[in-house]
Amino acid sequence: MTRPLVLITGASSGIGAAFARHFAAKGWDLALSARREERLEALAEEMKAQFGVDSLVIPANLADPDAPEGIYSAVLESGRQVDGLVNNAGYGLPGAYLNSEWDDHAAFLQLMVTSYAHLTHLTLPGMVERGFGRVINVASVAGLMPGAKGHTLYGGAKSLLIKFSQSLHLEMEGTGVHVTALCPGFTYSEFHDVNETRDIVSQLPAYWWLTAEEVVKAGYDAVERNKYITVPGTWYKFLVALNKILPDSVGMALMKKGSASVRSSEGSAKGHTQG
Ligand SMILES: NC(=O)c1ccc[n+]([C@@H]2O[C@H](COP(=O)([O-])OP(=O)(O)OC[C@H]3O[C@@H](n4cnc5c(N)ncnc54)[C@H](OP(=O)(O)O)[C@@H]3O)[C@@H](O)[C@H]2O)c1
Repeated sequence: MTRPLVLITGASSGIGAAFARHFAAKGWDLALSARREERLEALAEEMKAQFGVDSLVIPANLADPDAPEGIYSAVLESGRQVDGLVNNAGYGLPGAYLNSEWDDHAAFLQLMVTSYAHLTHLTLPGMVERGFGRVINVASVAGLMPGAKGHTLYGGAKSLLIKFSQSLHLEMEGTGVHVTALCPGFTYSEFHDVNETRDIVSQLPAYWWLTAEEVVKAGYDAVERNKYITVPGTWYKFLVALNKILPDSVGMALMKKGSASVRSSEGSAKGHTQG
């Protein structure tokens, strides 16, 4: 019997690579995408040796508007179909809004919002037709919190993914396709090296930190149970619950105090490249 195939973006590192390991352990074949091809090849070999699963390696830059079509075509041309989709690739632009050129913000939105929606739009019809599908949109607890100073579009992009996932979850009812927004807090990965906040976030106490493996397990279990959202970790569940009962003005005041130190990198993002 052919194994189901899951397409994972941002599979060269962190949460995406952990998703690849988790799905492979559950018997799924993989389509691995990111820019760093050699890392994807190494992961594909590792998954073959460890779990006997097959992987397609599809290098792509998701800031390119044509990338989703290219990735999807590569899967179809290999004779496979997409049964699961983990929209995960991402990063944060450091510093305040005006520290970055518009082109950098536009590329950020293309990757963090449009590519997620586009890949979902491409892969969903096949899932609906076959009566089976799993879609995980890796959002963030930042999408459930008030705005923060620095990484200005990040929380809004993640909020959009959460609302998008909720709506799709409702639309997919009865089709066999499950849609989940995964909302991690601070997670060990390369994310904070790329967004230049490693020194600052390293000062956070241990209970603020999640491992990529626990984030992935929460996401996988939630999509299997057809939950439209999951927030991994007791600390973050508490923060989200607290935020729901606090007036916005109190939440904003707390974010003003906290996010200035945690998220506002002094460094200019001009010429910033990811990876
Ligand atoms: N770590 C956290 O604290 C945290 C918390 C909440 C949510 N998240 C979310 O979790 C997701 C994964 O992040 P992570 O923590 O695993 O960070 P990570 O270790 O830095 O991994 C990011 C992944 O995204 C890929 N990527 C970045 N830019 C890309 C582009 N232009 N085109 C294609 N792929 C690109 C990277 O691959 P290449 O560089 O090889 O292209 C890498 O595989 C992101 O959506 C992030 O917003 C992270």
